[in-house]
Amino acid sequence: MRTQVGIVGAGPAGLVLAHLLRLEGVESVVLEARSREHVEHRVRAGVLEQGSVDLLTETGLADRLHREALVHHGIELRFAGRGHRIALSDLTGGRSITIYGQQEVVKDLIAARLTIGLPLLFEAEAVGLDGVGSDRPTIRFRHEGAGRELECDVIAGCDGFHGVCRDSVPDGVLSAFTREYPYGWLGILAAVAPSSDELIYSNHERGFSLHSLRSPELSRLYLQVAQEEDIGEWPDDRIWAELQVRLGLDGWTLHEGPILEKGVTGMRSFVIEPMQHGRLFLAGDAAHIVPPTGAKGMNLAIADVRILAEALVRWYRTGDPAGLDGYSEACLRRVWRAEHFSWWMTSMLHRAPDTDAFDRKLQLAQLEYVCTSEAAARSLAENYVGLAHV
Ligand code: APR
Ligand code: PHB
Repeated sequence: MRTQVGIVGAGPAGLVLAHLLRLEGVESVVLEARSREHVEHRVRAGVLEQGSVDLLTETGLADRLHREALVHHGIELRFAGRGHRIALSDLTGGRSITIYGQQEVVKDLIAARLTIGLPLLFEAEAVGLDGVGSDRPTIRFRHEGAGRELECDVIAGCDGFHGVCRDSVPDGVLSAFTREYPYGWLGILAAVAPSSDELIYSNHERGFSLHSLRSPELSRLYLQVAQEEDIGEWPDDRIWAELQVRLGLDGWTLHEGPILEKGVTGMRSFVIEPMQHGRLFLAGDAAHIVPPTGAKGMNLAIADVRILAEALVRWYRTGDPAGLDGYSEACLRRVWRAEHFSWWMTSMLHRAPDTDAFDRKLQLAQLEYVCTSEAAARSLAENYVGLAHV
């Protein structure tokens, strides 16, 4: 098999890239290790920045999104028994965020590609890359029980944090920057109407919690737990009881309902530099991870591939490699801004196991500042909705 751009991974990064290339007449093949059923039902993040929605809209992918998604103009920060609204849109000249599950974005992208019959292979696991330093790189993959090869001009490694593409770069080329957090998130999806119209980020002495939502009938909630927490220790009653304590506020009720899905995820910050080597370009979680507190993961993946698609189109049209050469540098500006924001939100809202009274006072002072200074609130808001100029 041969194509122009070989794309490993059918998450938001790989699928959006394939779509942007198709619109400009560049050929690609997408290889995805898991089944279609699996990727379409994996519950992941749910917040799209204005810029991500604009891209999906401009490229014809947002019809269902505009019918079903929820547009939000603010978020609430809850601490010390009070709630404070950060008026995202008022503080950012009218920008907003959109709540639409990552798996819904993925479903729309898969449907768009398969409807026009373009190659997207499921249960096609890449096992290794060859010749990334040459001009004929190859992806080795397994499909329908056989070993196969895809020869490409360029490979896009969109295979997430646990993928194989990053590992095919020779030792010593990439530098990794990481931070582990001594806690994780227990997330649930519950069949109950959301208890608030907007997201609530709560800093509580017992740990962080978050009230989010997916639709008028579905709530999504998170609790800070230990990094390796055993989900078996958390029967549904215990989850609701803890959420009631951490989100509790006089005059406000958290509605409970059947839990449809639950799981624990670890939290880390991670960036590799550069995000490219030879003819291999890494995008999305394959190149960087943010803790979920800033709601940036899916947006960074989309921002990377927008830059990569433009660079590839320029190269194919004119032979000019400047965009490709500058890919990593162009992405990393936004990536590091988002890394800082996500780390900052995480540190301000979680309770570290070794925390002391001084740390707690600092957190409360910072939260108080964000909620009383317009300058501080605006800074949070412009990062949260996504900076247009980075
Ligand atoms: N071969 C083929 N596909 C692979 C391989 C492989 N060896 N390894 C992983 N994959 C697939 C995964 O099954 C997954 O579908 O690559 C895809 C990567 O998708 P995501 O993990 O969704 O990553 P990305 O597209 O970069 O999107 C980032 O995902 O984890 C969230 O919070 C994160 O919202 C962010 C988003
Ligand atoms: C979610 O709805 O899944 C969600 C929302 C905000 C976050 C993280 C996750 O910061």
